[in-house]
Amino acid sequence: MTDPLVFAHRGASYDLPEHTLAAYLRALDEGADGLECDVRLTRDGHLVCVHDRRLDRTSNGHGLVSARTLAELEALDFGSWHPAAGAGGLDESHTRLLTLERLLDAVLAAGRPVRLLIETKHPSRYRGDVERRLVGLLRRYGLAEPGPDDPVRVTVMSFSPLAVRRIHELAPALPTVLLLEVLPRLLRLGRLPFGCRIAGPGVELVRARPGLVPALRAAGHSVYVWTVNEPEDVELVLAAGVDGVITDRPARMLSRLGR
Ligand code: G3P
Ligand code: CA
Repeated sequence: MTDPLVFAHRGASYDLPEHTLAAYLRALDEGADGLECDVRLTRDGHLVCVHDRRLDRTSNGHGLVSARTLAELEALDFGSWHPAAGAGGLDESHTRLLTLERLLDAVLAAGRPVRLLIETKHPSRYRGDVERRLVGLLRRYGLAEPGPDDPVRVTVMSFSPLAVRRIHELAPALPTVLLLEVLPRLLRLGRLPFGCRIAGPGVELVRARPGLVPALRAAGHSVYVWTVNEPEDVELVLAAGVDGVITDRPARMLSRLGR
C-alpha cells in the first residue's frame, strides 16, 4: 500500500487564516503534495477563494460574497478573525482576499510539483458560470489539459454531479472529484457518474461505511477523503488505504507518514 497524497485544506488552515496566500505558502513549505481551495464568483465575475457564501465568518465584511465586486472584497480583512492574529505579525499575505489567479501564480512559482484541488461552490446559483469561468482561466494558464509530467496538476471537485458533468463537457481532460457527504444509489454499485475518476467522501462517511473505500478502489476509482484532522481519523483513513487525505494540518499528517 502506498502512502496517500497529502492535501492542505484551505491551506495550512489550522495554523493560519484559511484561503490566504500565507496559509497556502505555509502548506507548501511544510511539504504538502497539494492544496485544496474553494472558489466562488464575485458580482463582477471574478473567481475568489472563499469557502462561505457569506463574508461574516472569515472577514470584517458582511453579507454575500456574490453581492460584492472584486474591488470591494479587496478592501476587506480576511485574516484578523483567526486565532493566529493574536500573536501579531500578520502581513498582507495573511489578510488579503486571495483570487484564484493569485493562487495559480503562487503554485506555478513554487518550483516543485504541486497538485491543486479546486472546489466549485454553488453551481446551481450561477447556471454554470463558475465552471465556465474556471475552465477559461485554467486554459489561459495552460492547466486545462494536465499531463502526467506537468509540475502543476489541477483537479476540479464538487458536491454537485451537475457541476462535475459541466467540467467534463467543457474540459474532458481535467480530472474531477465527486464529493460525497452521503452515499448516492449509484455509488452503492461502486460507480461514479460522468467519467469522474475520483471519489471524495467525508471522513464520517468512510467511518459509517467500512466497505466503501475498498468498493470504490475495486471499481478503479481513487479516493480522496476530507477533512482528516483528528488522530483517530488519520488512522482510520490510513487503514482504509485511501489515495489522498485532505487536512487542515498537513505538517501533522506528513509527520505521521514519516515525511
Ligand atoms: O475537500 C472537500 C471539502 O473541502 C468539502 O467540504 O465544506 O470544507 O468545502 P468544505
Ligand atoms: Ca472545500
